Amino acid sequence: MGDGEVWFISRHADVRAALADPRLSKDWRYTLPPEQRAEHPATPIPMMILMDPPEHTRLRKLVSRSFTLRRMEALRPRVAEIARRLIDDLPADGPVDVMSRYAFMLPVLVICELLGVPAEDRDDFAAWSNDMVDSADRSEGMANDSSAKLYGYLSELIAAKRENPDDALISALIEVADDDGDRLSEPELVAMAMMLLIAGHETTVNLIGNGLLALLTHPDQRALLRERPELIGSAVEEFLRWDSPVHTTPARFAVEDVEYSGVTIPAGSVVVLSLAAANRDERRTADAAELRIDRDASGHVAFGHGLHHCLGAQLARIEGQEAIGALIARRPDLALAVDPDELVYRRSTLVRGLKQMPVVLGA
Ligand code: HEM
Repeated sequence: MGDGEVWFISRHADVRAALADPRLSKDWRYTLPPEQRAEHPATPIPMMILMDPPEHTRLRKLVSRSFTLRRMEALRPRVAEIARRLIDDLPADGPVDVMSRYAFMLPVLVICELLGVPAEDRDDFAAWSNDMVDSADRSEGMANDSSAKLYGYLSELIAAKRENPDDALISALIEVADDDGDRLSEPELVAMAMMLLIAGHETTVNLIGNGLLALLTHPDQRALLRERPELIGSAVEEFLRWDSPVHTTPARFAVEDVEYSGVTIPAGSVVVLSLAAANRDERRTADAAELRIDRDASGHVAFGHGLHHCLGAQLARIEGQEAIGALIARRPDLALAVDPDELVYRRSTLVRGLKQMPVVLGA
């Protein structure tokens, strides 16, 4: 057995291969001796991000039927409108924290709108989710008080949507069935909503924050974007590559001995894939440490790859493009209110993002 050792994979080619390697499981029980595995549950909450095929395949297929590219694109005008409103509400004088007032608010409002969470519940929702992600790094796992509250809230919301369906995603997930009539069970529905909620805003907040910071600290790139706003699409890919919002994937577990770049990782090991390191690998990207919004950054692994490739990648792109594009276009004098060295990052090994980013908006 691997004695629970943690292995870190960082080269682009290795990370990409590992993301699609069926010998690297999501099932933590591979860290246990085989005779003990059956005594433990695979995952306390049936989230597909923590599952292997065939269970993962089944859930992914069902959710993909309702969470379509069309549904995401249809949200674009709403995302733009939310961005516009949030910008209008920012105070023009004095420093303002663009993380809490903008980068955080936009994805929360969008995911609540997507799922169909009533407006009056959105503050609670945001606080629980935020606390859950922080707790993952306080080694409580995700099973803390906030996750219980969120779980209870979502169960009630799903019950309410059964009574009064609407056009939003939760209702669609309740309805969805495959050709054989297979449906999501109640616990699967709650887990799906919970995962979409967490995955949907704890990551995108940092795409927006890291992207804005990148522009504020690279005036030449910012000038280029103002001159050629149509570059926003490639700029967002470059932000994802250059300062990846998800630094490392949730752990994987070696089912058998696996070899990467000549190194053998023993069966039972915990394997962590560094998306951020892969995205800065010089073997893959020339001058990888340089931010160039007009480069072709496609092929980055910021959204993962393979079976678990981010389900919400297109939505995240839309949010990043609309949020960053609008703020940069509408606030030409936007500037950091502190020295970049004074900025503080959240304590997390999974996500990389700022706690706060004080800015002055100017005219
Ligand atoms: C999976 C990144 C936004 C939903 C993933 C994975 C990554 C990722 C790296 C793969 C994890 C793994 O292989 O272990 C990101 C980033 C985002 C973002 C960087 C924003 C910039 C979103 C949004 C949603 C979403 C907006 C939904 C509304 C999901 C789901 C999965 C996932 C459901 C699990 C897919 C599966 O297991 O099949 N994301 N994500 N993500 N993401 Fe995202």
